Amino acid sequence: MRHVHVASRRRVIQSVEANGARIPIVGLGTWDLRGKTCARMVEAALKLGYRHIDTAAMYGNEEAVGAGVHDSGLKRDEVFVTTKVWQSDLAPRDFERSAKDSLAKLKLPFVDLLLIHWPNPSIPLAGTIGALCKMKRDGLARHIGVSNFNPALIEEAVKLTTEPLVCNQFECHPYLDASKAIAATRKRGMAVVAYSPIARGRIKGDAVLTRIGKAHGKTAAQVCLRFLVQQDIVVIPRTSDTGRLKENFDLFVFALSAAEMNEIAALGSPKGRIVQWSGSPDWE
Ligand SMILES: NC(=O)c1ccc[n+]([C@@H]2O[C@H](COP(=O)([O-])OP(=O)(O)OC[C@H]3O[C@@H](n4cnc5c(N)ncnc54)[C@H](OP(=O)(O)O)[C@@H]3O)[C@@H](O)[C@H]2O)c1
Repeated sequence: MRHVHVASRRRVIQSVEANGARIPIVGLGTWDLRGKTCARMVEAALKLGYRHIDTAAMYGNEEAVGAGVHDSGLKRDEVFVTTKVWQSDLAPRDFERSAKDSLAKLKLPFVDLLLIHWPNPSIPLAGTIGALCKMKRDGLARHIGVSNFNPALIEEAVKLTTEPLVCNQFECHPYLDASKAIAATRKRGMAVVAYSPIARGRIKGDAVLTRIGKAHGKTAAQVCLRFLVQQDIVVIPRTSDTGRLKENFDLFVFALSAAEMNEIAALGSPKGRIVQWSGSPDWE
């Protein structure tokens, strides 16, 4: 995995390269954004210079995300769009139907990245991975990957797949020590994509992040996101506010020192997950 800079019409965008994919290091998360707000935020993000949008069948917003992408006026190859197939649709036929439905809603001929959203222990992974690979071979997805896979599941998926898996998307922010999941993902050359990268807004007002931010003329959220991108971790913060959209993208004109990075890393605990429900896999 390595860091690259891709020249775009507007600016240089930092990307993470992994197993043949080049993933823009900052994307817009869209969970919970709906309808016109969602379309407007996607379009505004792309006009600001974002080149990566994260959605999922489960978010119920793919029509709006697609509308925002189309309204941005960018060419198809200038935007990196990720979608995901939900846990209930991991049997091969359901998987294929879900992926095709997503493309129809997005009004796109293919997505850049298609992910298994959450593992489902009651559906054999071999069939799901087979369907995921077929989507790539059929040209419906440029790249494929997984989400919420723990180290054991990553190994299982890598053994089963016939196409490269380019990322594992999981919860990652300064309050969570996700080092085991990060190491297991990178061991297989896959990119780490951090969801809930600003801990669903909880970092706001954090004493350490705010103090470090002051020294750089940046906000706690920017320090939090910089902490991740400085480790080559892709971040997909979500916001419904155009001011914060700009703030969350402005991460490249400053750098954190080794001492600052260590201080932020010390905020993390293995029990710091926010996104928890009965289907959450253990990271161990
Ligand atoms: N694969 C998965 O299972 C999975 C699970 C969860 C999330 N995701 C993806 O990851 C994306 C991001 O995660 P998330 O939505 O859970 O949480 P997040 O991006 O960590 O946090 C979003 C929250 O932070 C606030 N916020 C945004 N920018 C801010 C800033 N600069 N300062 C202070 N507060 C700020 C937002 O409020 P405002 O809207 O008011 O700005 C919102 O309430 C999702 O949208 C989704 O695309 C994937």
